[in-house]
Amino acid sequence: MGENSESVSGQLEAYCRVRRQSEMLCKPLTVEDYVVQTMPDVSPPKWHLAHASWFFETFILVPYVSGYRPFDVRFHPLFNSYYQGVGTPFPRDRRGLLSRPSVVDIYRYRRHVDEAMTELMERLDDRAENRDIHLLIELGLHHEQQHQELLLTDIKHILGNNPLVPVYAEDRFAEEEEVPVPLRWIKVQGGETAVGHDGNGFCFDNELPRHRMRMNEFLLANRLVTNVEYLEFIDDGGYANPLLWLADGWASVQREGWQAPLYWRKMDGAWRYFTLAGEEPLTAEEPVCHVSYFEADAFATWAGKRLPSEEEWEHAAGTAGLWPGNYLESGRFRPQAALTGEGVLQLGGDVWEWTQSAYRPYPGFRPWANAVGEYNGKFMCSQMVLRGGSCATPESHIRKSYRNFFYPHNRWQFMGIRLAQDT
Ligand code: AVJ
Ligand code: FE
Repeated sequence: MGENSESVSGQLEAYCRVRRQSEMLCKPLTVEDYVVQTMPDVSPPKWHLAHASWFFETFILVPYVSGYRPFDVRFHPLFNSYYQGVGTPFPRDRRGLLSRPSVVDIYRYRRHVDEAMTELMERLDDRAENRDIHLLIELGLHHEQQHQELLLTDIKHILGNNPLVPVYAEDRFAEEEEVPVPLRWIKVQGGETAVGHDGNGFCFDNELPRHRMRMNEFLLANRLVTNVEYLEFIDDGGYANPLLWLADGWASVQREGWQAPLYWRKMDGAWRYFTLAGEEPLTAEEPVCHVSYFEADAFATWAGKRLPSEEEWEHAAGTAGLWPGNYLESGRFRPQAALTGEGVLQLGGDVWEWTQSAYRPYPGFRPWANAVGEYNGKFMCSQMVLRGGSCATPESHIRKSYRNFFYPHNRWQFMGIRLAQDT
């Protein structure tokens, strides 16, 4: 088992730590912040807090604990995200209309679930017949960690769309002059390689089965694309040149009026952007963040390069390694410039890296059995894979084989660009 549960006794400790972390992330919020939904993709913070509890209640407490009394059965459709197998989910784009249950009631709901889960874990031993429950608890914890990242990205969207541009957390790390690592191209050997989870610790069903493949040698950028580099693309008319864009990307540019990454704003000729520490002048050497797949692809085309495939990315991480990195625990909540180091830097943390790979099942993929089978498999159409985790990802949540996925127009997550090219 992974870091979220070293052992059966470690699982209760992991449970407490993960559950506490979600509530910690909400500490800077006002009660009004908890309820806002700024776009259909964004969920109100209180919805995330309730949904993660609903997951434990629905997939563990109700089926496995005899005599368990749900906190309020009327919550079930409200906090069911998309599981058609266990009811009819309340429409996603209307979550911001739920003034009730109140924030206070949602914290009560969490306590109720915590008590029942604690009681369950205290009497569960590691007999083989409890294996399914242990795996579901571990899944519930990884699920809640996914929602911690979503909580932060949704909070950023909620605050960033408020004209008062509120500060979520002061940046205690303000840097002096930053001199970034120069861009270098690292040759990654081709040949026979294996892709997918290697069997040590937890993984999602979409990381399996591990499979062999042949790969050509390629070159991978030693670091992420920075804000200044992206500015060159903007200043060169990147957003005005349809020849650089995929057809669907160009349609998004025109429909949405994109002229820069999300959260960028030009004031008196100078670019500023919103961070979780408030609005400030653009930091030149930080990795560019909040770009869609379409923008990542157009940038790569403009630069005469390409994005790596997800297999190339995983193969490179296999030789270079992921760690350490700038994850949620750093408390910075923003990507950081690569300042020193050899080899391939920033593979883990900072920003999710768009790959050129469509999110599809690996050969031989089988979704989990039963209701949680809806978790990943049914989204394997029309989305793109991102790798590596971000400054909003809990460190114990990420691995080399981890496949995140979003629609190519999405850009409110901490998403950025690493370039590749053929040799
Ligand atoms: C993998 C981030 C696309 O946002 O729906 C949360 C994560 N899955 N609850 C999503 C997830 C179930 C998922 N992403
Ligand atoms: Fe979820």
